[in-house]
Amino acid sequence: MQSPEAVRTVPPSPPGEHLHPRRFFSSDPLQATSVSDPSQPPARDLEGRVALVTGASRGIGRAIAVRLAVRGARVACVATRAENCEDTVEACAAETDGARAYGVDVADTQAVAALVAQVRDELDGLAVLVNNAGVTRDQLLLRMSEEDFDRVIEVNLKGSWNFLKAAARPLMKARGKIVNISSVVGLTGNAGQVNYAASKAGIHGMTRSLAKELAGRGVCVNAVAPGFVATDMTADLTEGSAQEWKDSIPLGRIGTPDDVAAAVEFLIGPGGDYITGQVIVVDGGLSL
Ligand SMILES: NC(=O)c1ccc[n+]([C@@H]2O[C@H](COP(=O)([O-])OP(=O)(O)OC[C@H]3O[C@@H](n4cnc5c(N)ncnc54)[C@H](OP(=O)(O)O)[C@@H]3O)[C@@H](O)[C@H]2O)c1
Repeated sequence: MQSPEAVRTVPPSPPGEHLHPRRFFSSDPLQATSVSDPSQPPARDLEGRVALVTGASRGIGRAIAVRLAVRGARVACVATRAENCEDTVEACAAETDGARAYGVDVADTQAVAALVAQVRDELDGLAVLVNNAGVTRDQLLLRMSEEDFDRVIEVNLKGSWNFLKAAARPLMKARGKIVNISSVVGLTGNAGQVNYAASKAGIHGMTRSLAKELAGRGVCVNAVAPGFVATDMTADLTEGSAQEWKDSIPLGRIGTPDDVAAAVEFLIGPGGDYITGQVIVVDGGLSL
């Protein structure tokens, strides 16, 4: 069989133009296919790339940041306060150089633009964006305040838009990858979450639209929609309620942050090179 080098008929682009070396092999799709060996350490195919992950201080965002660091990315870990991300940065630093903590309210458009510029300066570029920061303010509609509606939309939906807007140009330059974290609730709806479900359904529309806008620039834009995941966000549920959720999950267990991070890692890695505009559900079958 030919070695990958032998089918490299397209000359490599200048540094920073391609996210994955595999693009170089695209002249023969059959030759480009490979099966990874799980006994081998993960590929360092994000080495030298900068990934920005919001909501990286804990839960799903932390798991994503660490997985991207294991693949060699320099990770900008963002939360409301930089010090909240110190643990995550330490975990990333064990895997790769260049992880840094940043603090911003994702709902603040000007501050997000300044932060993206700072990350580009300090970490030298931006090739991956994961919009993961999110909040809930659950209440039945009749009792939901306008403030609770607005804040959830501002953080979850507008916050994601703020980062997309600020990062679009560098991501185009890098032919990068974007993953927006939504929720199955954005597909199915959920009583008591009119605000949250609207924000997550909005992310689906935004993801599909931006995928169409940026496809010609080589940027893949997808959403990952988790089901029920054990994090601080779901920690307030009573034991009985958590058990009810668990019983309704066909795979028989509540998800872990790493279950979600694995799907994000796949989309950002070479496996995601031909996937765009999709909502990938990671819910153990909950929404079936
Ligand atoms: N857990 C689930 O079952 C589940 C299911 C479906 C979807 N999701 C989605 O997955 C994402 C992560 O959820 P999670 O469960 O990991 O949540 P989590 O444990 O509550 O963590 C939330 C993260 O978002 C950050 N954040 C919140 N508001 C912010 C703001 N205004 N500006 C900047 N950062 C902010 C927090 O930073 P601080 O630490 O500084 O507060 C924290 O890092 C969210 O988008 C959530 O909607 C979760």
